[in-house]
Amino acid sequence: MANHLNRPSQMGGEEEFEKGLRPKRLSEFVGQKEVVDQLAIAVQAASERKEQMDHILLYGPPGLGKTTLAYILAAELGVNLHTTTGPAMERKKDIASILTNLDERDILFIDEIHRLNRSVEETLYPAMEDYALDIIIGQGPSAKTLRLDVPHFTLIGATTRAGMLTGPLRDRFGIINRLDFYGPEDLALITMRDADVLGIGIDKPSALEISRRSRGTPRIAIRLLKRVRDYAQVKGDGSIGKEITHYALEKLKIDAMGLDDIDKRILRFIIEKYDGGPVGIDTLAIALSEARETLEDVYEPYLIQIGFLKRTSRGRVVSRSAVEYLGLTLPSAADSLF
Ligand SMILES: Nc1ncnc2c1ncn2[C@@H]1O[C@H](COP(=O)(O)OP(=O)(O)OP(=O)(O)O)[C@@H](O)[C@H]1O
Ligand SMILES: [Mg+2]
Repeated sequence: MANHLNRPSQMGGEEEFEKGLRPKRLSEFVGQKEVVDQLAIAVQAASERKEQMDHILLYGPPGLGKTTLAYILAAELGVNLHTTTGPAMERKKDIASILTNLDERDILFIDEIHRLNRSVEETLYPAMEDYALDIIIGQGPSAKTLRLDVPHFTLIGATTRAGMLTGPLRDRFGIINRLDFYGPEDLALITMRDADVLGIGIDKPSALEISRRSRGTPRIAIRLLKRVRDYAQVKGDGSIGKEITHYALEKLKIDAMGLDDIDKRILRFIIEKYDGGPVGIDTLAIALSEARETLEDVYEPYLIQIGFLKRTSRGRVVSRSAVEYLGLTLPSAADSLF
């Protein structure tokens, strides 16, 4: 049975729900200490100078807080946040009309910024650098370029694929931050805080248990918390303790490490068909009928983080701990394992 509970991408209706749980201030944002510290300095410096903040690129796997941080920065700076996405801006004039409608120091948040098309991206360059838009008026030999001023804004770009950004775009960001998976302690703090907001009683061991099965991802922790709450309400007294947590997670078929079917198929394939690897990413993608990008952005980062998978120059290699975790044995003495 396909289990989508522990996938990091958003599910239907989740966006609205998450909004209510988003921390509003940097001081409420749990974890990612280096990123938060750096942003706090930049916010304070820009505020003191009464200037716009530098353009910021946030990247990392889904559900780790990129959008949340963009909203927080707008709140910290006391400016408006305008949101759009890379694919939503099809033509030059789409971006031009957004830019000309900004107020001074506003934030423009572009999600999935790696999916901007070339002409929109090129319109952004002078806007980011010189706060100007080059508009071409007329056609043919009589065409003229008109330079329009745009407000001093801050662009926040978010992407799960920093590698797909073009060099010129990337170079125009003054602050580039990568968000990493959260450790169980940080995730437990987030879970307890969210439980508090939702009016759910939960003890620390249960919050930790949910966290350990959430692939280091707040979005998944929130989702599991909601499901466990359902069990606590129907099968228990409404509050979440260790017993009901175990029961619920068992029923929901959430793996002890938070792995889902595809994670396991990836690992199994490498172990069973390639003696643990190395296997090229394209071979994996074809064998598992998954897009290479999905494997690289959504599945691999967590498997790498927990030490089950390694990217080598010859391909992907599975670790001994992964083989043991899955209760498998290797068909032959494989020396490529790490
Ligand atoms: N550091 C954090 N502290 C508390 N809650 C967090 C934190 N990071 C994320 N969350 C919660 O997780 C949810 C998902 O975060 P968010 O939408 O910001 O992720 P994202 O990185 O933008 O994901 P995507 O790549 O899918 O757009 C948010 O609603 C927020 O409540
Ligand atoms: Mg987002």
